[in-house]
Amino acid sequence: MLPREAIEFILETVEPGTVVVEFGSGHGSEILAKHCELYSIEHDEAWLGIASSTYIHATIQQNVHSSESGESGWYDVDKVLQNWPPDPQCVVIDGPPGYIGRTGILSLLNLLEGVPIILVDDVDRPAELRLAERLAERLNYDLQTCDVEKPRDGGTQRRYAVLKRRG
Ligand SMILES: C[S@@+](CC[C@H](N)C(=O)[O-])C[C@H]1O[C@@H](n2cnc3c(N)ncnc32)[C@H](O)[C@@H]1O
Repeated sequence: MLPREAIEFILETVEPGTVVVEFGSGHGSEILAKHCELYSIEHDEAWLGIASSTYIHATIQQNVHSSESGESGWYDVDKVLQNWPPDPQCVVIDGPPGYIGRTGILSLLNLLEGVPIILVDDVDRPAELRLAERLAERLNYDLQTCDVEKPRDGGTQRRYAVLKRRG
């Protein structure tokens, strides 16, 4: 689940009723779905339909950016493209799980261009931080990392990043 601070940030920043897309769904999805028109991209059937979101079931496929980064694929890009909603005001990158990897989202840079807010969770992990930095650079967005109060199970600091469109 997204950290409490990340959920609060979205609730405070994103206009109620507007479109939000999340990569990776879970119990936090229900909170977001009450606030906005949520679209959830999810690879795992077990996590489909648990919130009142519009689910896009996209299995994990080979992906050139994932392979270049030594990762195990990413969501089915065609499935995501076919179901992408108009004019999302926020995109949340919280999936697939870290053991699969998230770098495949670089296949969708053209969809992300112009989205006002992109939130990347888990940037205390090197792969997610690198991805947030690459997205900020490629999209020319401002990047801010935010600590959260609750540590990870191992006791280390957890962090998410907010990328904001300039101007
Ligand atoms: C970090 S979770 C996404 C959490 C989601 N954004 C939320 O706020 O609830 C990434 C993926 O792990 C799976 N997942 C979701 N909730 C989980 C949980 N509580 N424990 C283990 N895996 C989970 C789903 O397949 C999900 O796409």
